[in-house]
Formats: sequence, C-alpha cells, structure tokens
Amino acid sequence: MNLSEWENSIFPGESMHNSKSRLKTLMPESAQTGFQRFKKLVLRFLREKLEKVLFTGAWPAKLGISAGFQGQVHVTKYRMRFPEFSLSLAPLHIVFASDFHMGPTTHAQHIEKSIEKIAKLEPDLLLLGGDFVYLKAKFVNDWLRLMQKYLPESIEKYAVLGNHDNHLDPVYIAAALEAAGIKMLTNRCTTLEAPYNFISLHGLDDWQSGNPDVNAAFKKTAEIRIVLMHSPSNYLDLQNVDFDLAFCGHTHGGQIARKDGSPIRAGSGPLSRQYNFGVFQIGEKMEKTLIVSRGVGFGSVPFRINSAPEIVSIRLMPELKLR
Ligand SMILES: [Fe+2]
Repeated sequence: MNLSEWENSIFPGESMHNSKSRLKTLMPESAQTGFQRFKKLVLRFLREKLEKVLFTGAWPAKLGISAGFQGQVHVTKYRMRFPEFSLSLAPLHIVFASDFHMGPTTHAQHIEKSIEKIAKLEPDLLLLGGDFVYLKAKFVNDWLRLMQKYLPESIEKYAVLGNHDNHLDPVYIAAALEAAGIKMLTNRCTTLEAPYNFISLHGLDDWQSGNPDVNAAFKKTAEIRIVLMHSPSNYLDLQNVDFDLAFCGHTHGGQIARKDGSPIRAGSGPLSRQYNFGVFQIGEKMEKTLIVSRGVGFGSVPFRINSAPEIVSIRLMPELKLR
C-alpha cells in the first residue's frame, strides 16, 4: 500500500487537537423536567409541521443540487496504528458516514453520489452514525434502495440512530435497517470476526434524544474498543469508560461556518462546538481518539459554507517496528 495516499496519521497522545475534559453537566432530554420536555416537544412539532408545508415538492433539495451546493462529498482519510495489531494482519479499512438526512432538503443525487463513493472505497466495515432521514421516517426506504444498489451484502454494516430518527420513528427506522442487513448497535456491543476478533464495537443511543446505556454497550470488550455514537455530546456518557476510538457526526461542522471552520451556530448539545469536526485526542492522558464527521446531508438549509459534506475513511494497522 502506498502510504503517501493517506492524508492524516493519528498518533494517540500527540495529535492535532488535544482537548482536556472541561465538560459541562447539561441534562439530556430524558433528564429534563416535564415542562421543559413538553415545551421542546411542542416547538419541534410546530417546526416540523411548518417545514413539511414549506418544503413541499422538495424544492430546497432541487435548488441545492441545481445551484451546485450539493453533489460533492469530501473523503477524509486517516490511518491509525495499534500495538495490538499483528504485523501479519492486513489493515482493517473502516468507513464512517453519518447524517444522510434523506428528505426534502438533501437531493437523492447527492446521497447517491455519497454512497457510490463509499462503495468505491471498498471498506471492510461500514459504520453509520445516524440521522438517516429528515422530516419523515419512511424516507429511510429511499435511502436503503440506494445503499442496496451500490453496496454489496458482504460488507459488514453497523448503525446507531440520530436525534432526527429518534424523534420521528426509531422502531420503524431500526427495523427497516435491520431488514436490509444493517446491524443495529444501539446500546449493544459485538466483537469482529477472526482474525480481527481483538476489536470490539460499542454503540450508544443518542445523548440528546435517546437513552444511552454504557453498561449494556460495554458488556463485553476486546483489546481495541471502537465506539459508534451519533453526537459528540455522547462523550459525556464515556467519561469513565476505556475506549480507543470513537466515531460520531451530528454537528454538520456547523453547516455554515467561518473560513477557519468554526461554526456560526453549533449543532445542538453541549459538546458540539468544542468538537465541531475533525480528530481530537481526549481523556486524561489523551489516550482516546474521537473522530467527528461533518456528515453527508443537509438540515433545514440545503447548502453548506466552509463545511463540506464528508465521509471518513480510516485504516487500522500494526505499529511500525523500527530496527
Ligand atoms: Fe443529529
């Protein structure tokens, strides 16, 4: 393999963004008072009703694609070396994609191009970080049709849901994904098949809209622990948990950002601004790696500024032994 094709090497403990924990204690929706939850529910209900009417005919997605704001997806590539990885093993290629938001603001062509790009990367493992749909749960079926068109069944696929999925119909969306061979990892764990059975996957429910259960997600662990979650605020659930690498999306990188990438308005959740996008070394000894993707799709506005749609590709590989 030509290593020069890889853009970013991750070295735990000495990487680009070092971020000591200065975590606020904010309450997830499940822990808010009845009145706070009711108020949020009403506001969300009204907003959804309004957007369903306003976005009739999916004109934002059509405008987005015809104006050239949609249809381009950046692939960010990383490589990460582990001492637990045997030198005789081939690197494990993981692709992480999140926030497709199939619906009236993200054009199907944009999503199709993203999925085509994932297929061309030929991952061993595809991790999906939630927010599959926007405004209607049944849009997941359109998304699945595109997935099935390009991605072979032989690629192992795991998913957690995002806040949009949870607010719409998590049971329906999870069942549709499972029926299409995508394994739900919400509050669950699994170990990869041999020879990669020293790697375990741990999925958490969304911090904001679900009920993350760390004990269930870490019931069984292997030597290398990889976490799949929707939002960077899920890191609040992981304060006392040993893990090596975590993937999340949700922030869209702010979707509209300044030239330096900082968001004008950060995504919801207390850690969305601090971990807007990119790779972060976290934990007391900076021993944990958090990768936050800007995601694929669009929220209520069908364009992005300084926050390009993104798919993450990472190769896990053995440590180099220098003589
Ligand atoms: Fe989200």
